[in-house]
Amino acid sequence: MALYSEKVMDHFNNPRNVGIIEDADGVGEVGNARCGDIMKIYLKIENGIIADVKFKTFGCGSAIASSSMATELIKGKPLSQALELTNKAVAEALDGLPAHKMHCSVLAEEAIRSAIKDYYDKNGIAYDKAQFPEPHGDEHEHFEED
Ligand code: FES
Repeated sequence: MALYSEKVMDHFNNPRNVGIIEDADGVGEVGNARCGDIMKIYLKIENGIIADVKFKTFGCGSAIASSSMATELIKGKPLSQALELTNKAVAEALDGLPAHKMHCSVLAEEAIRSAIKDYYDKNGIAYDKAQFPEPHGDEHEHFEED
């Protein structure tokens, strides 16, 4: 079996929603200190809906495919739904990632969460802090979970 699914290859070769949103309502950036990869997510939010989303990822193919798929999954969705997106859901939507690449999908989950938190903070919107644990992208535990 090929190491990477066709969907991973497709989203790596033709990533959706690449770019930046100049007047973004929320921006989230996370990194993984171990591999050095960085992911940045920009959100445009209208009436609680993600009207637009773009990303810039300086990272491996799996991180790029994960960013692309994650942005597709949250576009047009309410913030509450985007907050529920897990890295496992992103990996499943890509028809799986190799175990040692699961941490790449974690970056996507954390970057989206961080961008939503940024939006809440900038707009003085109250939220449950428990929903926003500190990103773990720079720790080693995601490697151990793999
Ligand atoms: Fe670091 Fe993929 S190897 S995000």
